[in-house]
Amino acid sequence: MSTTAASKGLAGIVAAETEMSYIDGERGILEYVGIPIGELSAKSNFEEVIFLLWNRRLPTESELKQLKLDLSERYELPAGMSNRLLALPMNAGPMHMLRTMISALSMHDPDPNNIELDQARLKALNILAHAPTLIAYFDRYRRGRYLVPPRRDLSFSENFLYMLNGSVPTPTMARAFDICMILHADHGLNNSTFAARVVISTLSDVYSALTAAIGSLRGPLHGGANEGVMLMLNEIPSLKDVEPYVMDKIERKEKIMGFGHRVYKTKDPRATDLQKLAQQLAKDTGNEDLFAKSQAIEKIMERELAAKGIYPNVDFYSATTYHCLGLDLDLFTPMFAMSRIAGWAGHILEQLSDNRLYRPAAEYIGPHDAPYVPMKQRS
Ligand code: ACO
Repeated sequence: MSTTAASKGLAGIVAAETEMSYIDGERGILEYVGIPIGELSAKSNFEEVIFLLWNRRLPTESELKQLKLDLSERYELPAGMSNRLLALPMNAGPMHMLRTMISALSMHDPDPNNIELDQARLKALNILAHAPTLIAYFDRYRRGRYLVPPRRDLSFSENFLYMLNGSVPTPTMARAFDICMILHADHGLNNSTFAARVVISTLSDVYSALTAAIGSLRGPLHGGANEGVMLMLNEIPSLKDVEPYVMDKIERKEKIMGFGHRVYKTKDPRATDLQKLAQQLAKDTGNEDLFAKSQAIEKIMERELAAKGIYPNVDFYSATTYHCLGLDLDLFTPMFAMSRIAGWAGHILEQLSDNRLYRPAAEYIGPHDAPYVPMKQRS
């Protein structure tokens, strides 16, 4: 088989077929199973989006009710997992915790390697239901607070905020959080989704594939950028400091977190939705200064870098949104992961239903016929 020149970062390479999400990076369009993301964020809920991604159609009323039931009865962790969690170092990073604990869940599964489609789907459902509990329990544990067990009568988003804060969220807060879950659920063959598909293509197991995806998402060029955005906003003392701060970074050719995308060459439609959400939440929670700084950064970036196709991505306004929802900075990327498990799992199921092992080629650029130099003659 002949090989062609390497495509660095696999840019522009089509490596899978999917029926889940469609992206038009030039026109700033994102659809889940053909439905524009703005429609879903305005009218849908996270559980419905999970059904949509996994079944490629919207659920009936009874199907949605069943999915909510199936998820909520899995909120609680398997016996032994809470003790495992409480044995972790309190200062561990929540993404390291999540990656480790989702991997550990496999050891509480009597049949972890079973990847028959119906079994893989059940495992995905378990993991998706356990992720909020893991994150909320860990956050309360590290703060020295008592653990708040899940409540089955609450939705995915309500229950997470309840377990995290110890009180049922207001409808506005729960809805805002649910919109974040909808917006982050799937996004084509992004790096972490690709990682999940690569791992499952060896016919490994769902836990291993999701663990790999979490590891990928953590990176600052991917989902970790939302934490980078918040760090940047915290570094800028006030609105008047935005211009010199951003210009200094641009002059030093440093990247501004939350901007730029491999696929979008215009504003990410999720950023448009999150911007509206962030503006409202900032007003409601007295964080107008944070939103004003974000808008000022966007304006400067548009003036300076729009010609290069650098616009806000999903991570830019999600930082302000999560901050206004009262989340700690190091929980931002775990929120992304919690939602994206829906997308990763859908891709795992798609990959399994028409699998071929991923095994690209590397272009060898080293020497040939090199002499084997005896040890004593090596300098
Ligand atoms: N700030 C300033 N300049 C940028 C930025 C940015 N955020 N992003 C890209 N550029 C510039 C690059 O310096 C490069 O300039 P050059 O051609 O003069 O060398 C050009 O735009 C192309 O950038 P690349 O990094 O080569 O583009 P690539 O497609 O490989 O990377 C990426 C996309 C990684 C997202 C990049 O835009 C970036 O690092 N952004 C900041 C991190 C970030 O926000 N990541 C989240 C992405 S969304 C997600 O994963 C959920």
